[in-house]
Amino acid sequence: MKKIVVFTGAGISAESGLSTFRDSDGLWEKYRVEDICTHEAWERNPQLLVDFYNARRRDTMNAQPNAAHIAIARLQQSIPSTRIITQNVDDLHERAGAKNVVHLHGEITKLRSSINETATVQLKGWEQHYGDRHPDGSLLRPYIVFFGEGVPYFTEACEIASTADIMIVVGTSLNVYPAASLLQYAPRQAEIYLIDPGQPAFTPSSKIHHIQKKATEGVPQLVESILSNAAERKF
Ligand code: APR
Repeated sequence: MKKIVVFTGAGISAESGLSTFRDSDGLWEKYRVEDICTHEAWERNPQLLVDFYNARRRDTMNAQPNAAHIAIARLQQSIPSTRIITQNVDDLHERAGAKNVVHLHGEITKLRSSINETATVQLKGWEQHYGDRHPDGSLLRPYIVFFGEGVPYFTEACEIASTADIMIVVGTSLNVYPAASLLQYAPRQAEIYLIDPGQPAFTPSSKIHHIQKKATEGVPQLVESILSNAAERKF
């Protein structure tokens, strides 16, 4: 049974209206990482971060999964061994029907303990109130992996990537490590499809097929091709 691993970044949610980070209108064009995405920033001005992530959470709740999220969920429903790893903190994969999504950089719909990086609670609604505490007694903070912090599920993601016969990479500039190194964990014989209208940071090779299309066009087309060939390719 062939194994498909999907790895996504902010670009897959761009057509749902959620900003990417490094495009010309991206979040890092408007905000400084050191002000809203580091542990020092949290210590220095927690209310600013609570307000920032509340606004992004509200945007996420108002966004809808797009044709790319839906196609990936359909792929997983048709080939249940398919695994999805994302750098995104939105829940659009799940709202499209995807299961067991591995979030490398956190989940905006959850808050986490300040003393245990994987102790999370589901937030009801979009608004965190600064000062609320986790059952472990520590202050609750956004469940976002800040720059310089560990990536709790990276080992699990590497194990998943190492089983891929096909890796589908969608909407990531491949600028941020260790997440971007997942492509190196794919087996040598794996086929890698990279769907991005831009030019992510990858070394061209015969095993990487760059489909220079937007996610909502390239992903459904690729999924359709895989599913229509699934029979003879023993998926
Ligand atoms: N369809 C597909 N790809 C798109 C689309 C689209 N409609 N629009 C933009 N893209 C591509 C861009 O060309 C770019 O390659 O999406 C990518 C977005 O790159 P980034 O903004 O760097 O986002 P990402 O790669 O997910 O960032 C990784 O950096 O700031 C941290 O934690 C944050 O998880 C994030 C990580």
